[in-house]
Amino acid sequence: MDIRKDFLPVLRPVGGEEEIRSIAETIESGWWGKGPKVAQFEKEFAEMVGAKYAVAVTSATHGQDLVFKAMGIKDADIINPAISFMTTAVVPLWNNCTSNIVDVREVDLNICPEDVRKNLKPNTKAIIAVNHAGVPAPIKEIREVYDGFILEDCAHSCYFPGAGKNGDVAVWSFQAVKTMPCGDGGMITTNDKDLYEKLVPMSWLGISSTYSRVNKNDNLSGKPGYSWDYEVDLLGYKCYMIDIVAAICLEQMKKLPKHLEIRKNIQNIYNKELKDYIQTPPWSETCQYYCARVAPSQRDDLIDYLATKNIHTSVHFKPLYLYNVVRKMNQRSYQISDNQWKRLISLPCHPGMNNNDIDYVIYWVKKYFTR
Ligand SMILES: Cc1ncc(COP(=O)(O)O)c(C=O)c1O
Repeated sequence: MDIRKDFLPVLRPVGGEEEIRSIAETIESGWWGKGPKVAQFEKEFAEMVGAKYAVAVTSATHGQDLVFKAMGIKDADIINPAISFMTTAVVPLWNNCTSNIVDVREVDLNICPEDVRKNLKPNTKAIIAVNHAGVPAPIKEIREVYDGFILEDCAHSCYFPGAGKNGDVAVWSFQAVKTMPCGDGGMITTNDKDLYEKLVPMSWLGISSTYSRVNKNDNLSGKPGYSWDYEVDLLGYKCYMIDIVAAICLEQMKKLPKHLEIRKNIQNIYNKELKDYIQTPPWSETCQYYCARVAPSQRDDLIDYLATKNIHTSVHFKPLYLYNVVRKMNQRSYQISDNQWKRLISLPCHPGMNNNDIDYVIYWVKKYFTR
């Protein structure tokens, strides 16, 4: 097979006329900041995931940080899984907490309930449970050993039924290569009214949104028309989503079922065609990442080999305890993560791939193992 001229990305967003039109409408409407599109997106997203409340923010990272601040979680021990993105280790640190990294399960690389149990501390105030690659984390099993606050990290789980429902609060990501991308954005969903009522003003310095005051939801004056005045009771910062971004999210949400079908189709074909060459990942309803496993001695070589064929791959993830920022506070052994991460290779999987792209990846992966 000829080597393609352009590279095949491991992940990429796909948008088109609909997103362009939606952004154009927003630009022309004169309401670019947080306004009707964000309100509509929050409402529709909450309905989709079956949550009472949704707060749209600039990223999942800001979302998690805001939840910590709204819950008053600080000066505590926070448990989070080894195989994850930097957010889950760093948010605790920014809140003056320790990042207590625990091992994962071999089967799905999700947080290991047994290791949670072993590493609980008297001051453990929260657990961040990641649905790794869109496979549900064992939150019910964690509840058997821990009855405190659980933040369900749904960055990879947009959307499968039940996602976001097992933790006390869920945080979602719409970052550029996620299943429902908008460039950068996130959502916090919860059924907790008190928490919701804190999160909304805290996403803008404690101020009620201009849009809510135009709409007289929060009109201090009680007079007709736009109320310019507001009170600030809570300490917040600026991390709310804006309408230009929500314009993309609303269109991507309509396309989500189709995009998830494409991802699942790729997953099915890879599983079928490559099962004799790689260890196929556990089934994922979102297939945010197709995390294959190969022998540690072959992983980096395969990455390099595929790169010479213009196929980009990645690793989701290198364990967090290997990064300097948290290394010192996590000086222990991580048997599963240590063994498994060296075997991980994410193959291209995104709605921008056609059948030729899928066949191309399969051809070169097979070729590598049969050379
Ligand atoms: C598990 C996990 N949590 C959180 C995030 C952070 O998401 P965002 O980029 O929206 O801040 C990511 C991003 O990849 C992630 O993989």
